[in-house]
Formats: sequence, structure tokens, C-alpha cells
Amino acid sequence: MDHASIADLLEHPRVLETRQHLHHSIPKHDHIMRVARYSYHLAPLLGADRRTVVRAALLHDLDSRLGTLTTHGAIAARVAAEMGEPECVSQAIVSHMYPLGPRPTSREGWVLALADKVASVSDLTVFIGGLFTGYSLRVRRQLCCTDPFYAQRQARRRRRRLLGRLWRRVGRRGLTE
Ligand SMILES: [Fe+2]
Ligand SMILES: [Fe+2]
Repeated sequence: MDHASIADLLEHPRVLETRQHLHHSIPKHDHIMRVARYSYHLAPLLGADRRTVVRAALLHDLDSRLGTLTTHGAIAARVAAEMGEPECVSQAIVSHMYPLGPRPTSREGWVLALADKVASVSDLTVFIGGLFTGYSLRVRRQLCCTDPFYAQRQARRRRRRLLGRLWRRVGRRGLTE
């Protein structure tokens, strides 16, 4: 894949931080790079603008944890617009979850939706392959600590466990006194 049309995005902090985020049990950065590669090859076959679709691919899942399966496309589209991307990039991103989200309204949108589906299957294949060596679970554990969404969830669980233990101890003491 020629990286010329995404060189600036590859250095962007919002894209770089996805290396620490968990997505499909792998680093989100791996997923978006895979979607970008597939989009790059699919775009000319479907008559779509390659630059638009590859840029959309790199940004299509930013802040996905803030939404649901059906709404995170709109969230990432807004992030892309705030980063200065043109309307055609956001337009492609907003429908990348089709048929769970809105139907694509451009060729670039169709390419991204298709590339995202194929990449998601590849993500799973890579994850399952790595289970045999222990690599997948090691990476997953690391990502759970570095991804703010999961780190907060783990901290909440730890707090709940600690409170549960304290509560049980206080309860036992209450019974014996
Ligand atoms: Fe997505
Ligand atoms: Fe995706």
C-alpha cells in the first residue's frame, strides 16, 4: 500500500494512540491499518476515490467506545470533521457499520463498509491464530491495562471487590461481637 495519502494521519496522536486501544481483542491500530489496506485495494475495483477511502479507514473507529454498534460511526465521523477532514471522508465513515448503521451514500462509503467487514474477520483469524502461542492473550491483557475504557472498568471492578471483602469482614465481626 502506498502511504503517501495518509502520511500525516499516520503521525497524528489520535491515530497513534490506537496502538494502546483494544478492538476485536487486538490493537485498534492493527484493525484500522488492515481496513486501510483492504480499502486501498478495493477502491479502484468499485470506482471509489482511493485517497478519501484510505483516510476514512484510518479514522473510522476513533472514539468507538463512546458509542454503540449503530452510533459509533457518527461519533468517528464527527471526530474526522473536527480533525479537518472533508465531508466526503466523514460521509464514508458514518455508514461503515452498515447494515447495523445507516446505509452508505457514496462509493467510498460502500468500500469502507465492505473493507471493515472483511478486516473484522481477519482480526478474528489473527486473534485465534495467536491463541496457540499465548501471544493473543498476552497482548489482550496489556491492552486492557492501556486502553482507558478497560482500565477504568478494571479499576471499578477492583474497587467493588475490595468493598465486597470489607463488607463481608464487617458483617462477620458484627455477628461474633
Ligand atoms: Fe466500527
Ligand atoms: Fe472497524
